[in-house]
Amino acid sequence: PQPTPFQVNLPIPPILKPVRSDANTDYYEIKMQKSRVNILPGLTTEVWAYQGMVPGPTIVQTLGRKSVVRFINHIDVSTSIHLHGMASQPQYDGYPEDLILPGYYKDYHYPNNRAAMLWYHDHAVHTTARNVYMGLAGMYVVQDPAEAALKLPQGKYDVPLIIQDKLFASNGSLVFNDDNHHGLMGDVILVNGAPFPRMAVSARKYRFRVVNGSNSRAYKLALSNKADLIAIASDGGLLAKPEPTKELIIGMAERYEFVIDFSAYPIGTQIVLQNLGLPNNTDYDLTGQIMRFDVVSREADDSTVPTTLRDLKLNKQPSRVIERRWTFDHRSEMWVINGNTWDKNRIDADPGAGGTEIWNFQNNSREWFHPVHVHLVDFQILSRDGKPPFPYERGWKDTVYLGENNNIRVLAKFDEERQGKYIIHCHNLVHEDHDMMTQYQIGTTGI
Ligand code: C2O
Ligand code: CU
Repeated sequence: PQPTPFQVNLPIPPILKPVRSDANTDYYEIKMQKSRVNILPGLTTEVWAYQGMVPGPTIVQTLGRKSVVRFINHIDVSTSIHLHGMASQPQYDGYPEDLILPGYYKDYHYPNNRAAMLWYHDHAVHTTARNVYMGLAGMYVVQDPAEAALKLPQGKYDVPLIIQDKLFASNGSLVFNDDNHHGLMGDVILVNGAPFPRMAVSARKYRFRVVNGSNSRAYKLALSNKADLIAIASDGGLLAKPEPTKELIIGMAERYEFVIDFSAYPIGTQIVLQNLGLPNNTDYDLTGQIMRFDVVSREADDSTVPTTLRDLKLNKQPSRVIERRWTFDHRSEMWVINGNTWDKNRIDADPGAGGTEIWNFQNNSREWFHPVHVHLVDFQILSRDGKPPFPYERGWKDTVYLGENNNIRVLAKFDEERQGKYIIHCHNLVHEDHDMMTQYQIGTTGI
């Protein structure tokens, strides 16, 4: 069933408190458990969830402090936790074969060395799509105290939004139907776990940090009154400068942050955050809309959107640089990278610690798009089909929307501090599971 939109207030997931802290580290605990929650009016839905909530609690951490998160598995399936966007050591990166068995726990160590919007989600080999779909996802923000000087909207005006589509049976249970490994397109869009919510706003500026946590759906975001989304950050943190845009494409796992300025609108104004749709997504009656902003009050606003945000310190392209090609195809009912399915014993690249390479992603499937995610590195997009990237993509990225037949070139510098195996995959989680995933290795140690 599809609920009537804009009936439920936007929830903000609670911020998780550390169980203890010392001089430079905060220690957290998150239980994975099955629980029954109310998502659609009058119905109960069983979810598999971090702390029993969908999405899980948000971790807000300070740049440079360390986190240790103990994930305790009380579900009857194996899990692995990836903090998407964190440059973690390989043994803490949610390697798909590095499983937490039912009844066990694992402590994950995170360095918090870049200020950005991240998210944590399940990554168990061949069952990631189901595990994330059932609810195993949550948000994680690393804040740089120095950013306060920019006077962007903060506190309750800095709002995390995780967008996820789901399919419900008439009894309220989640339907996991992966359409023969093509993807899973829900007819209900949840934001922070609530279906098509509404958010009461003041006539002022807000910062929104958006994660597309959907299994297979990409969105083209726009406002119903055609006002600007003022993009200020991408996966790896702030852009060099604000990039106002009327439309913003967000593939699965990408993060974009934008400011919306409601100050010009009279009380009573309603503005819908729309999804204009993209090729090869399944549209249902209500999936052209996501949530609604209702302007309900006026108040003073001392926040600004400065004309420059930061020096991105982009990597320079060395004069001689290896260009490595990665093709994304569909072959005999499987999704493949360079013709191969996942094999934990095969390494497809060894760029060397501190090496810089151009990675060339080619989508040979005409019928599908593949958001490509590389673990560990933040890269910069050099070109999209030979043309410059979208303005809002001109910052640090870890996932790139590779549309039908697209060719995208990115420049990446590989870490000197972290060595071991890291994976590359399509973030359509159904494709990832069947079996569009491979790995590269830096050095010879680690997982
Ligand atoms: Cu968000 Cu390898 O994943
Ligand atoms: Cu894909």
